[in-house]
Amino acid sequence: MKGIILAAGEGTRLYPLTKTISKQLLPIYNKPMFFYPLQTLINAGIKDILIIISPKHAGDFLHLLGSGKDFGAKLTYEIQDRSDGLAQAFIIGESFIGQDNVAMILGDNIFEDNFALAVKNFKKGGHIFAKEVTDPERFGVVRFDSQGMATKIVEKPKKFLSNFAITGMYIFDNRVVEVAKKLKPSARGELEVTDLQNWYLKNGELKVDLVKGEWIDAGTFDALLKAGNWVKNQIEK
Ligand code: G1P
Repeated sequence: MKGIILAAGEGTRLYPLTKTISKQLLPIYNKPMFFYPLQTLINAGIKDILIIISPKHAGDFLHLLGSGKDFGAKLTYEIQDRSDGLAQAFIIGESFIGQDNVAMILGDNIFEDNFALAVKNFKKGGHIFAKEVTDPERFGVVRFDSQGMATKIVEKPKKFLSNFAITGMYIFDNRVVEVAKKLKPSARGELEVTDLQNWYLKNGELKVDLVKGEWIDAGTFDALLKAGNWVKNQIEK
């Protein structure tokens, strides 16, 4: 299994913090935000990792992470020239992914859960992870039927769908590269990761589990503060 960490994007919701600094390099208490998703992949047993960054901040990431040797990982870098959507990562990553399956984590997502078992047991299809939240309109959202089967996935729904947000950790089989290439941009002009999930859902090949521990998408001021406090509490426990 290969790994991708997507750390591009403009971070406009965090302006002016992100005017000169990449969102994913902002501090979460005592470490750059990016260290958390990196550690999540490494803890999941994934050591061969592609980092997708914007041209503006590429030098900072290289400076901070280098080859990845200090983290026990092998890091490769690719540039996303424009924020054309999360699903584009699988097109940019095509040659890196090769014939393998791939786990992608977003560079601003902080997880308490360990995904080692999910990675080890993964065979085919898609496997995503949801979490009950009070502000689902911020996220990709999944609805479950009474049997707990996923029935519908919508990116940032305007009309209430459910309280289950889809977190930024995705495991897909190798077909994701070809599926991503066939996607059409959404109304907001992006290749949506939820469209990939919907492709697997329609094929009956999408597994949706709930994360048990804390999960924070640190892309807003409140979430950034919450993440810092959460990490501090974990350290002091
Ligand atoms: C992205 C995805 C969304 C997902 C979220 C998780 O949104 O598009 O489906 O729920 O990450 O963090 P973004 O935070 O890039 O707006």
